[in-house]
Amino acid sequence: MPGEAILERPVPSSGERLPVIGLGTYQSFGVGTNPDDRNRLKQVLELFSVNGGSVIDSSPMYGTSERVIGDLTHELALRPKLFMATKVWTSRRSAGIAQMKESFQKMHVNVMDLMQIHNMVDWRTHAKTLAEWKEAGTIRYTGVTHYHSGAYANLERIIQTGMFDFAQFNYSIVEREAEQRLLPLAAETGTAVIINRPFAASGLFSRVRGVKLPSWAAEFDCESWAQFFLKYVISHPAVTCAIPATGKPKHMVDNMRAGYGRLPDEAMRRRMVKLIEGL
Ligand SMILES: NC(=O)c1ccc[n+]([C@@H]2O[C@H](COP(=O)([O-])OP(=O)(O)OC[C@H]3O[C@@H](n4cnc5c(N)ncnc54)[C@H](OP(=O)(O)O)[C@@H]3O)[C@@H](O)[C@H]2O)c1
Repeated sequence: MPGEAILERPVPSSGERLPVIGLGTYQSFGVGTNPDDRNRLKQVLELFSVNGGSVIDSSPMYGTSERVIGDLTHELALRPKLFMATKVWTSRRSAGIAQMKESFQKMHVNVMDLMQIHNMVDWRTHAKTLAEWKEAGTIRYTGVTHYHSGAYANLERIIQTGMFDFAQFNYSIVEREAEQRLLPLAAETGTAVIINRPFAASGLFSRVRGVKLPSWAAEFDCESWAQFFLKYVISHPAVTCAIPATGKPKHMVDNMRAGYGRLPDEAMRRRMVKLIEGL
């Protein structure tokens, strides 16, 4: 990768460019104060940054993850290069404000790059607070999230209001429902898209266990199954970035490499689906 640059996509509402591979923190970063785990995660974050990563996604729902991310990125002095995203996950205005203030403190930030409404919980209430905080410069972007196709109809209605800069939802080579309406809608409305569960929460790896990566994967600079799955996701033109979660340094490097080199075209994407569906 030396000399190469990670692929980037613009946030439609601002034109700011973000690297196509980010980092999810569900489970992997909820390690509390354990020093061995924290040292391992420090390595993960260093490798993420050295390999061009920027977007880190957390939530008050993820146990100690916000605090661990905050402490470690502060210790490593990585902050200026990072795009910090978290969520509000509660009902009522006052509880939302209290929770978001805590997230700022845990993540050691004065300005949060992206504040999202987790699973659309009490979204109308929080949307007003987020609009005020964006106006005041406390947050830079607003967003709304979900992780399951059962919620897409509601998510579509929310995206159509035009109130949010970002939508975050699930999409992977085996969970492709978002291709029907959600991804085209995001493109039409100028909404940035963050993809969660790009490995279907690791389910994809069991599917390919013992299966050799096809030689034609080299045609889009793909060297592993993780890159195969991530390149499928980020090659959709409506996707801004994917946020695979890992707590392992080796996996971090593997995932980051998906952000480099060629991406599959439409014909190749169909070939990839056919292969996975046939397993
Ligand atoms: N409602 C919401 O807002 C919502 C819902 C779901 C997820 N999210 C966000 O999206 C992120 C990603 O989703 P997710 O964590 O559910 O699932 P995921 O990223 O699809 O899968 C994570 C799993 O893949 C494994 N993995 C990662 N890289 C690998 C590699 N190169 N090779 C082999 N295994 C690898 C990880 O294990 P290792 O640690 O062993 O690498 C972990 O078990 C979350 O962490 C969270 O930030 C948001």
